[in-house]
Amino acid sequence: MTYNPTRFVTGRIVRNEGRGEIFYRIEATIPEPLRFVPGQFAMVSGWPGNDPLLPRPLAVFRSGGTRGKGKIEFVYKVVGRGTALLSGLHPGETLSITLPLGRGFDLEQAGRTYWLVGGGVGFSSVFPAAALLGRRRNGFEMFLGARTRDHLPPKEWTPGGKAPGRTHFCTEDGTAGYHGRVTDAVLERMRELSPEAASRLTILACGPKEMLKEISTETLKRGIPAQVALENHMACGFGVCWGCVVTLWEGDRTAYRRVCRDGPVFDAREVVW
Ligand SMILES: Cc1cc2nc3c(=O)[nH]c(=O)nc-3n(C[C@H](O)[C@H](O)[C@H](O)COP(=O)(O)OP(=O)(O)OC[C@H]3O[C@@H](n4cnc5c(N)ncnc54)[C@H](O)[C@@H]3O)c2cc1C
Ligand code: FES
Repeated sequence: MTYNPTRFVTGRIVRNEGRGEIFYRIEATIPEPLRFVPGQFAMVSGWPGNDPLLPRPLAVFRSGGTRGKGKIEFVYKVVGRGTALLSGLHPGETLSITLPLGRGFDLEQAGRTYWLVGGGVGFSSVFPAAALLGRRRNGFEMFLGARTRDHLPPKEWTPGGKAPGRTHFCTEDGTAGYHGRVTDAVLERMRELSPEAASRLTILACGPKEMLKEISTETLKRGIPAQVALENHMACGFGVCWGCVVTLWEGDRTAYRRVCRDGPVFDAREVVW
């Protein structure tokens, strides 16, 4: 699913706030509001000079505004040089952004209930899906997993987070919510479903590769459709360098496909794990 043609814009940072030094949320004004599909991403840079040379891919977290005055938000975790430099930018400084990129989640299937699964910073791709489903009053549940409570997204960022039974927080050390891996919480909840409810379920997931692989294996076994957002390393972000390829099943053969162009969201059945 895509909407708008890709374009390059210069954003002006309005805020760039850290949360527990784990996650940052950066907001910038852009010339026009962006219509994006949850799961689509942008290539973002803004640090002075050319080191690192390449911008970094970040999921579009939120966009809004009015004609002639748009805004865009990303959330990110500092893992290396690019994201560390991003975290040092201040309000008033500029961001270079190419967006929207890739194909997002398919949320257009009638009569489906969606479960959204975010592992680690993977919540950045599934929150926009939750926000859209919430606006449409479409049924969904969200499962968010992290090693420990400090690595969970802040509750105030969670769309519909206060609705009872809507969001399942999971921690591996048991410091908040369900004690265990997010995939185990999903599987337990799946076992509670009637065959009729299971037949209406679609799962959307973003997170570490092992988590996505497990979700894919389990949903495939049960005949439940699943879409996974992959976060491969990227160089160009728009299909030129072939630096982001993933192997997919096409019938009984396999083929290389570019995550930035053909994804980052793929039907879980297609991915060769
Ligand atoms: C489509 C897409 C959407 C993304 N959305 C977000 C988002 O919304 N928020 C967010 O925080 N991150 C997101 N990421 C991941 C983010 O792009 C990387 O964390 C970032 O590029 C790292 O840049 P860096 O310079 O800080 O780290 P680097 O110096 O490039 O790397 C630091 C360390 O992290 C590892 N690493 C870097 N990139 C990845 C990756 N993609 N997968 C696994 N390990 C990696 C490296 O191997 C290295 O060990 C997304 C990635 C993709 C492809
Ligand atoms: S990152 Fe260059 S083709 Fe995907």
